[in-house]
Amino acid sequence: MAAYCFIILIVIVMRFHGLDIYNSKPVREKQITRIIGKITTIAAAINLRLSGRAPVLPSNKLSYTQNFLYMLDSFGNLSYKPNPRLTRALDIIFILHAEHEMNCSTSAVRHLSSSGVDVYTAIAGAIGALYGPLHGGANEAVLKMLSEIGTVENIPAFIEGVKARKRKLSGFGHRVYKNYDPRAKVLRKLTEEVFSIVGRDPLIEIAVSLEKIALSDEYFIKRKLYPNVDFYSGLIYRAMGFQPEFFTILFAIPRMAGYLAHWRESLDDPDTKIMRPQQVYVGEWLRHYTPVNQRTESSNSDKFGQLAVSNASKRRLAGSMA
Ligand SMILES: CC(C)(COP(=O)(O)OP(=O)(O)OC[C@H]1O[C@@H](n2cnc3c(N)ncnc32)[C@H](O)[C@@H]1OP(=O)(O)O)[C@@H](O)C(=O)NCCC(=O)NCCS
Repeated sequence: MAAYCFIILIVIVMRFHGLDIYNSKPVREKQITRIIGKITTIAAAINLRLSGRAPVLPSNKLSYTQNFLYMLDSFGNLSYKPNPRLTRALDIIFILHAEHEMNCSTSAVRHLSSSGVDVYTAIAGAIGALYGPLHGGANEAVLKMLSEIGTVENIPAFIEGVKARKRKLSGFGHRVYKNYDPRAKVLRKLTEEVFSIVGRDPLIEIAVSLEKIALSDEYFIKRKLYPNVDFYSGLIYRAMGFQPEFFTILFAIPRMAGYLAHWRESLDDPDTKIMRPQQVYVGEWLRHYTPVNQRTESSNSDKFGQLAVSNASKRRLAGSMA
């Protein structure tokens, strides 16, 4: 829900600039500066709105992350100063998330902007891709998973379920890294720093044991599955008091720099063409038109199952128009 609000606000608040942004380099650069500048203000306003509080204006005297924490926590009191160690921790997290080459959401930016849409639509589409549980939504999935496991004693049974393909181990594995994600190493260390300020999250014991057990298990060793950036980030965000539904936004804020660098590069690249991935068609080669009422079901057709009727529909159908 929070991610949806974020996407909608980005498009509504910022889209008025129109498509002429592509004509001039200085105008493009202005859009980049505006987006990176405004994104924390929008994110903080959503966070405050979710807890029923009024938005706070940014301060131009603070650093990027300081200002974000100031908008979240100051209640508008100009003398408020966020904790410097927490500010530094968030700085580290933001730097680690800023860019990661052609991942799913960044390639969505390039894909969308290749059709000539405005940059706001392109980044809104990317955030949509980011919140998927196999991508940036994995940190939220990790927390759910750790809560489901509940105690260290339940880990072996959980691991057996993963090996039996009942579910994935969230926060493990990577499309590119077949080694320990270097970002996860930094975040693992950072958990202790954040816990020393705001208190220890009990789920950390499960996370650490889960990592240890998985890393010594043949299934994960053989497949080169290691913790990724999302394994520990959710625990840090939770310890810092952020709701899981806000995690994707915390990822999207710094990743904006990466998205915009790719957007800029793709516009400057004379080889950029509208994206059109190729597909190998393996279906039936030639089919003549058959009227709907004469069609028979082919044995290999991918049939729709029976759709469940909701109680709301049943209530409506039970009424009459007379
Ligand atoms: C990130 C991810 C999508 C990368 O997928 P990928 O590179 O395409 O990996 P593959 O799907 O080819 O997996 C290779 C093998 O490892 C297994 N595997 C991969 N990630 C796994 C995980 N997290 N848990 C259990 N098994 C996993 C696959 O089932 C496959 O097994 P098989 O060879 O017996 O069929 C995948 O590792 C994953 O789903 N991880 C969990 C979600 C996550 O943390 N995402 C954040 C990424 S930063």
